[in-house]
Amino acid sequence: MSSFPQGFLWGGALAANQSEGAYQEGGKGLTTVDMIPHGAGRMPVKLGLEKRFQLRDDEFYPSHVAIDFYHRYKEDIALMAEMGFSVFRTSIAWSRLYPNGDEPFPCEAGIAFYHSVFEECKKYNIEPLVTLCHFDVPMHLVTEYGSWRNRKMIDFFTRYARTCFEAFDGLVKYWLTFNEINIMLHSPFSGAGLVFEDGENQDQVKYQAAHHELVASALATKIAHEVNPANQVGCMLAGGNFYPYSCKPEDVWAALEKDRENLFFIDVQARGAWPAYSARVFREKGVVIVKDPGDDEALKNTVDFVSFSYYASRCASAEMNTNNTSAANVVKSLKNPYLEASDWGWGIDPLGLRITMNMMYDRYQKPLFLVENGLGARDEIDANGEINDDYRISYLREHIKAMRDAIDDGIPLMGYTTWGCIDLVAASTGEMSKRYGFVYVDRDDEGNGTLARTRKKSFWWYKKVIASNGADL
Ligand code: BG6
Repeated sequence: MSSFPQGFLWGGALAANQSEGAYQEGGKGLTTVDMIPHGAGRMPVKLGLEKRFQLRDDEFYPSHVAIDFYHRYKEDIALMAEMGFSVFRTSIAWSRLYPNGDEPFPCEAGIAFYHSVFEECKKYNIEPLVTLCHFDVPMHLVTEYGSWRNRKMIDFFTRYARTCFEAFDGLVKYWLTFNEINIMLHSPFSGAGLVFEDGENQDQVKYQAAHHELVASALATKIAHEVNPANQVGCMLAGGNFYPYSCKPEDVWAALEKDRENLFFIDVQARGAWPAYSARVFREKGVVIVKDPGDDEALKNTVDFVSFSYYASRCASAEMNTNNTSAANVVKSLKNPYLEASDWGWGIDPLGLRITMNMMYDRYQKPLFLVENGLGARDEIDANGEINDDYRISYLREHIKAMRDAIDDGIPLMGYTTWGCIDLVAASTGEMSKRYGFVYVDRDDEGNGTLARTRKKSFWWYKKVIASNGADL
């Protein structure tokens, strides 16, 4: 039986937009996620189908308070340290450093906040793994420039990235440019701040925006290496292989095409050029990418490692409508009849993790980092005030075994950060009741609760897993 290598990074992940709250404190500007309400109004906004550039009094916005990490980060990082974390993934809210996104100089209060967060990590020997953009584009960039459809975003983003690399040099060495970059295809407003006009070719807008993000990501990678050659920069995929629904060749082809749709981004970030298949795909979608002369050269700044989230595998077929069911995050997938599913219908497939990791390493030959994985579930507090989340332990245990098998397959895996290590707001639904954490947060879907933190049974289990470097599951 294989084991985890010495120095394997164990920890958990949060993101600014789903944890910090304090949406207007410290000079922070409004971001896309601040405009996305809970409830019926949520999906049209997330998908970029409805313009919401003003907050409304009659809506509840979960990101505005979230779990109040902004004021409670010392308590939260102490809980992570108690579990033995050696890595903590979070993101920087772009609009805390550049409230509008296009200012020439950053906001000092924003820098001071993250400095303090990363110092706190250092106190416990926890390596921060920091995403520059996790589903939160400053709203001013959306309203004034059309967000990533505009090439100027490359300059705004690289200025912001440079600020981060310089300000946190010596405190942070692991960086991710864009969280789940492929999600911009599936959830364009939350993914990339895109809002569509009636009748326009949405694929054209999305892929032009993707090109701008990919150039920005490559240039940010270059800057990170210039600022400090010890910096390691990763890309980040919303992962999970598509399975063909049957062995019918047309189904196999459909699955390959769906995989490519997502892997397109990582193909560019990890290999430094557009993949061969992209010309035909763009032609079929009526997409013509406008490039600047230096873009192809810029894209050659490839990432040091490939990070990804994995919640579930996916299924595709040629004949069935793949929009009819959601079984794997916001990427539409057919329901796999061989798998159990979470209460939200996400299939549970630990072997799919091993399959996904093998595919990714075969394709990229770069170290992998699993930066999101977990089970969204409803937790109950029992009469003794305890939360016995055995279902979560069982999910994580099976996925850790699959990671171990993938390591045995020869894959260099840098680390593992479970998603939502402290309960946070769900990105898809805006719910608090879809919980992932080892630590329960007293807050409900309507914003009631004290925000107090309580250790769940999984807290003690994960502490033991880390202490044994994954041997005691
Ligand atoms: C990923 C995101 O898509 O999945 C996270 O990077 C998100 O931001 C996570 O929270 C889980 O999805 P959800 O909708 O259950 O929060």
